Parts: sequence; C-alpha cells; structure tokens
Amino acid sequence: MYDFDQIIERRHTDSFKWGIDDTVLPMWVADMDFAAPPEIIDAFSRRLNHPVFGYGRLPQEWGLAYQSWWKRRHSLEIETENLFFCAGIVPAISSLIRALSHPGDSIAMLTPVYNHFYDCIRNQNRKVCEIPLLFSGESYSIDKERLEKTLSSVRCPLMILCNPQNPTGTIWSADDLKTIGELCSRFGTIVLSDEIHCDLITPGQQYTPFAAASDTCRTISITCLAPTKTFNLAGLQTAALYVPNQDLQKKARSAIQKDELSMPNSFAAAAAIAAFTKGEGWLDELNIYLYENKCIVRDFLQKELPCVRMIWGDATYLLWLDCRLLNRDSRFLSHYLRREAGVYLMAGSEYGRGGEGFLRLNAACPKSLLSEGLTRFQNGIGSLIHS
Ligand SMILES: Cc1ncc(COP(=O)(O)O)c(C=O)c1O
Repeated sequence: MYDFDQIIERRHTDSFKWGIDDTVLPMWVADMDFAAPPEIIDAFSRRLNHPVFGYGRLPQEWGLAYQSWWKRRHSLEIETENLFFCAGIVPAISSLIRALSHPGDSIAMLTPVYNHFYDCIRNQNRKVCEIPLLFSGESYSIDKERLEKTLSSVRCPLMILCNPQNPTGTIWSADDLKTIGELCSRFGTIVLSDEIHCDLITPGQQYTPFAAASDTCRTISITCLAPTKTFNLAGLQTAALYVPNQDLQKKARSAIQKDELSMPNSFAAAAAIAAFTKGEGWLDELNIYLYENKCIVRDFLQKELPCVRMIWGDATYLLWLDCRLLNRDSRFLSHYLRREAGVYLMAGSEYGRGGEGFLRLNAACPKSLLSEGLTRFQNGIGSLIHS
C-alpha cells in the first residue's frame, strides 16, 4: 500500500507549479503532488552511492525495460533497435518539426490540445493547422471529414497527435487511430504520436498505441514515450522515440543528435529502468486513487455547482471543466479564481480551438488538497456569479 494521502510541502522547493503566491493553491501545471515510487527513489540512492557524475550511456536494460512494459501493459511489440533515447518529449517534438518540415509548412493537430505543441510549431516558423474535435456535450470525437478535407488541401508534412488527448482525457479507439493513419498516409503526412499520458488510465480501460493500430500507422509514425508523466519524474528529462520505419528513423535519430538531445543525464536511465521494471504496483494503486479523485470532482460539481460540468475522460488526471454557462472568457475566469479565490486552474483557451469557455483542473493531489481546491473553486464561482 502506497500513501497518496500524504501531504508533501512543495512551496519554496523550486517547483514550477508551486512557485506562485503562497496563498494560492496550484491546480494548473501537469505534475503530481505525490512522491515518486519508493522503488525509483531506491534506484536513485544506489546511483548516488557512486560519487562520479560524468557523461553517461544507456545500458541494454533501458530498452528492455520499455519493451517489456509496452508488451505487458499495452500489447505493443517494440523492437529495441527501433527505440532511442531523447531528453524530453517537447524538445524532441521541436527538433522533429525542424527536421521533417520546412518553414511555412502547416502542422496538423486535433484541438483542444496540449498548449506547448503550439509553441513548438510557432517557434520553428511553421503554421498551426487546427482540426477541432467534435463535441457532443458529453464527449469528443474526431471530425474525419474535416481531417480529410484539410490534409487534401493544405501542405501538412506532420500531424501531432496526443494519444490519449490532453486536456480532454479522451482515449482514441483503434478505429479512430486507423482512420487517422489511412488519411495521413494518403496525403503524405507523418504522425508524431505523443503517448506520454497513456499509463494514467481509469482502471479496466485500455489505450491503443498508434503504432499498434495498423501496419500503416506503424509505418508513418514516430511515437513519443516516457515514464515521466506516469511516475511523476517530469524534472528528469528522460524519454524515448519509437520509429519502426527505417528511413524515418534515420532522420529522427539525426535530428535528435544534431540538437544534442541524445545524451542521458546521470539519473535518466535508472529512472526509466526502475519505473518500467518495478513501478507496476505503485501505478495500479495510483490509477485507483486518481479515479476516485475524478469521481469526487464530478460528484462535487453535480451537487454544489451544476453550472460547471466535468467532461469525463478515461485518461490523465487533468480534468476538463465546461464553464460555458458562466459566459465568461476562460482567461478571465482563470485570473479571477487565482486572484479572488486562491486557486489556479489553466484557461481552456490555452489549448486552442474548442477550448474557449473551459478550464483545466489538475486533480493529481492528496484528497485533502483536492477538497480545499474545490471549496475555493466553489467560493470563487459563487462570488463571480453574485458580483
Ligand atoms: C501531451 C504532453 N506531451 C509532453 C509533455 C511534456 O513532456 P516533456 O516533459 O518530456 O517535455 C506534457 C506535459 O504536460 C504533455 O501533456
């Protein structure tokens, strides 16, 4: 049994998430307020016993750890020779955009989607090509007609896919992924499938790796994998790219090397190996805890604040709140709640088209903090309505 109720003081620890006003409860940046698994911390301790921190290299166990995890948990056969290290997914995506497209090209994305993808694209002088998801009021689906129309009419050498989707928490079905693969293949679009959230899933549910959806998907994709979101190790910059297509792999490896992202820091390999060989028990308990937290937020809103609705997603601890009945700009809402109620949520408009009128709440914290956050949220919305 692991203790996810334990409060760990993170203020004044150089945490990005907690480095805000002392009176504000942060429910914004996507890291968790839980200790990393003791099995991983033990591996760090063992590494610390050796007092030299020179340049490292990856032991064979590194690839084998990824391989056995994806086979066991996600039924994907990864050949270790097609997997290589990169120092973080966001820098890898920026690097791959530079290598696999030209300035002025468009990069397709299903939106609302992770905000840093927008920066990655714009910082390389490429154009964001948004294909908004269809929203039924309850759930999200892919607008396949629009995707086809867009890919057929705009030069999109790349599509960045978030599988599962941050911020809506949607797990894409194998059929959805197959369709994306077929359309992208037809129009010569490479898919960068970012699967960093894939292990944070409602117990009993399954995600499909993009590369497992069909042979076409496997051939046209670069899959981004990491233990960092799952095991709360975001500060360690340890990730991997899986590229079965040999031509594409050559280009991707060269990009990562050229941009100096291929060398692991002294803890990068130990973290991934310990996570994927010893972290299973911790993760299964974590997913139960996160599921309970999700239910707490949904039930609280239904009972206490029915003007805000949580859109249920089976992946991630990032909860997508529909605040459109409040008729307020989502940036205003985020600022107002931070300033007046002392709770900080991300504005939905940060995630592009389809995000306006929503807020994103990070529920990966001990239940006592979650409860405090919800009370502040309720008070803030209450005072806004009555102002
Ligand atoms: C979809 C997605 N990709 C990537 C990242 C960050 O990856 P990294 O820390 O490896 O750059 C995040 C962090 O929130 C994310 O949500």
